[in-house]
Amino acid sequence: MSATEFDLVVIGSGPGGYICAIRAAQLGLKTACIEFEAALGGTCLNVGCIPSKALLQSSEYFHHTNHDLEKHGVVTKGVSLDLSTMMKRKEKIVGDMNKGIEGLFKKNKITWLKGRGSFVKAGEIKITGPDGTETKITTKNTVIATGSKPIEIPPAKYDRKLVVSSTGALKFEEVPKHLIVIGGGVIGLEMGSVWLRLGAKVTVIEAMDKILSGMDGELAKTMQKLLEKQGMEFHINTKLVETVVGKKEVKAICEKNGEKIEIKGDKMLVAVGRKANTEGLNADAIGLKLEKNGKVAVDKHYNTNVPGVYAIGDVIAGPMLAHKAEEEGVAVAEILANLPGHVNYDAIPGVVYTWPEVASVGLTEEQCKELGLSVKIGKFPFIANARAKAFGNTDGFAKVIADARTDKILGAHIIGPNASELIAEMAVAIEFGASAEDIARSCHAHPTLSEAVKEAALGVDKRMLNI
Ligand code: NAI
Repeated sequence: MSATEFDLVVIGSGPGGYICAIRAAQLGLKTACIEFEAALGGTCLNVGCIPSKALLQSSEYFHHTNHDLEKHGVVTKGVSLDLSTMMKRKEKIVGDMNKGIEGLFKKNKITWLKGRGSFVKAGEIKITGPDGTETKITTKNTVIATGSKPIEIPPAKYDRKLVVSSTGALKFEEVPKHLIVIGGGVIGLEMGSVWLRLGAKVTVIEAMDKILSGMDGELAKTMQKLLEKQGMEFHINTKLVETVVGKKEVKAICEKNGEKIEIKGDKMLVAVGRKANTEGLNADAIGLKLEKNGKVAVDKHYNTNVPGVYAIGDVIAGPMLAHKAEEEGVAVAEILANLPGHVNYDAIPGVVYTWPEVASVGLTEEQCKELGLSVKIGKFPFIANARAKAFGNTDGFAKVIADARTDKILGAHIIGPNASELIAEMAVAIEFGASAEDIARSCHAHPTLSEAVKEAALGVDKRMLNI
């Protein structure tokens, strides 16, 4: 095979694309990955999950030092914020991980084709480099893993100074006085939390009747109450209709219950969802079929309508989550190597990294109702968990939903400390088809937060021990 011929070319190096490339290379396919950004890793690593989690961690330390340590008998004086160091730390984490993926590409002999990939025809791709040079390569198979980008809505055009997307909200040079957040979804609440903890006033405008609309209703309600306790303000059932941008001020004009309200701030974060990235692929050249919402249409084996062209991650249907994209990347690489690649969409966890964290896997209570399923529910509050007491973080609960007849776990929903880590047990449980009793009879170390999950599983059979 010549240097411009491949078994597989992956377009996009986000978590879906780079993991797909690694798995394919492990399985012996001659693999290349096209990425036009200066660094590998896509939205998740460069302007998404990783930098936001770095800031969430740093801002949490700042907030806890200022507000919670005293209760532990730790007296701190003169705590102040050095935002520039916080930002540099975030950038270093991203930079180190960029290099990590480059290293993984070298180790697995994956070629990084630097530039923008566009189809000439199925099996032939043109790469336009940063300096405009064009090269063409041929490939037996192509995986489109081009991800997504923030939606821009007419009433709030990004000016990238006062009105920003999540990318802008990761690099404010000063703590805003008043940050207006449009959209009470995952990004709005996570980035709103960062700046709230660092001292900004934060007001969230949400068009629907609740925040975190796809999540279990009980979790979403509790989350709003806990964030309100921290000082975040919410306008629910409120739609942004116009934004007036001044020199240093931004005014959100909204409709709430038929009335107009105006909210003034100095920054506005618009986080109203993301849309699939298919621009620039020259998809028409191969007649690639898109869904009405702009996502690439695929069958359950990630085949598009064009033979030899596959798609995974945010660019296809399903939740826009890095780990969902990774699983799909592995599955498609295995399918290409004649293995039975498969993703279990019933066991994909979702996490919101607020304080406390929110984590879910499987069906929500509302979805069970819609499906007419008869269920039993166990719920255990962290206030009755010894480790949560020791931490001093007792807000929230763990909830397990099981089929009333078979006891099979259908869903688990946790709001509380380290929920992001606790949910893994329940994802494994669902993957293994476990019953609530399986979890209830498994020994959990004491004292740990995971005992709250075990207690919730016991609660399905109404036999919790510590409450
Ligand atoms: P989202 O879909 O989670 O939330 C957007 C919210 O904006 C919705 O509640 C919607 O009702 C509201 N909205 C839409 N138009 C509005 C308007 N004109 N006025 C007021 N509210 C309006 O979208 P988000 O937060 O932008 O996140 C995008 C994607 O990124 C999501 O699919 C999410 O799963 C993913 N993501 C995941 C993270 C994680 O797993 N921790 C972190 C960040 C993003």
